[in-house]
Amino acid sequence: MRNIALKVAQLDRPDLSVAEVGAGTGFTTEGICKSVDPKNVHALDQSDFQQAKAKKRKSIEGCHFYLGDAESLPWETDRFDRYVSAGSIEYWPDPQRAIAEAYRVIKAGGTATIIGPLKPKNSLAAFIAEVFMLFPTLDEYVNWYKTAGFVDVQYVFVRPPWVRKDDYAVSIVGRKPAGGASPWVAPSVAPEESLKAKSSSQQSKLLFLTRLCVGAIAGGIFIPIALMTTATLKVKSLFADAS
Ligand SMILES: C[S@@+](CC[C@H](N)C(=O)[O-])C[C@H]1O[C@@H](n2cnc3c(N)ncnc32)[C@H](O)[C@@H]1O
Repeated sequence: MRNIALKVAQLDRPDLSVAEVGAGTGFTTEGICKSVDPKNVHALDQSDFQQAKAKKRKSIEGCHFYLGDAESLPWETDRFDRYVSAGSIEYWPDPQRAIAEAYRVIKAGGTATIIGPLKPKNSLAAFIAEVFMLFPTLDEYVNWYKTAGFVDVQYVFVRPPWVRKDDYAVSIVGRKPAGGASPWVAPSVAPEESLKAKSSSQQSKLLFLTRLCVGAIAGGIFIPIALMTTATLKVKSLFADAS
């Protein structure tokens, strides 16, 4: 899956400079360093706990590590040839802002690739999934990219072998047509809106607690589903072996 997802990122030269955002424990960084010289790879994550594990990987020795936020990157405009982010968008509070940041930090002609989950087509699965985190639709990904200013937006679906439908994850890429920051301008929050937000903080605590409880229950539901699926696959493979 990693190889298919990274193919669209066009990491075809060791001298490319690459920004990786939400690099976590370095699994995707390892994939990037198969074709790019680690000294040109700049891996950022918000968690020093995750990053500490990445720093121990021998295969990515020489990479540069940063602690930071996908929505406010610590790099100057027009700096990198490539931007890659895998399995992180689902945690970003404002994906449009982060994608505009991806646009800003790459050079004109450079590309940004984001690998992320897709909203399941089955409505029950979609409901359960969205209790946990963001599962955008393909249209949302494409729209965020185009709004950020990217052109030549393309994508491939990625999924593990046991998933039959193409609604698991996507690897999307876009090209930056000209230098400078993204044409998208972050909406400013009006003062009355921010007051409203403060006065509804009691409501948001309640909402948070409700989501936590529903999330915990939904998480519990996944355990028997996973056990049943594993058992079914095991029985099928035993029958296949026997015949
Ligand atoms: C599921 S891990 C994926 C890690 C890695 N990219 C991989 O492929 O294994 C998601 C990572 O995104 C990071 N993350 C989430 N929100 C972030 C943000 N706003 N800015 C930077 N990193 C973030 C988390 O700390 C976590 O390490």
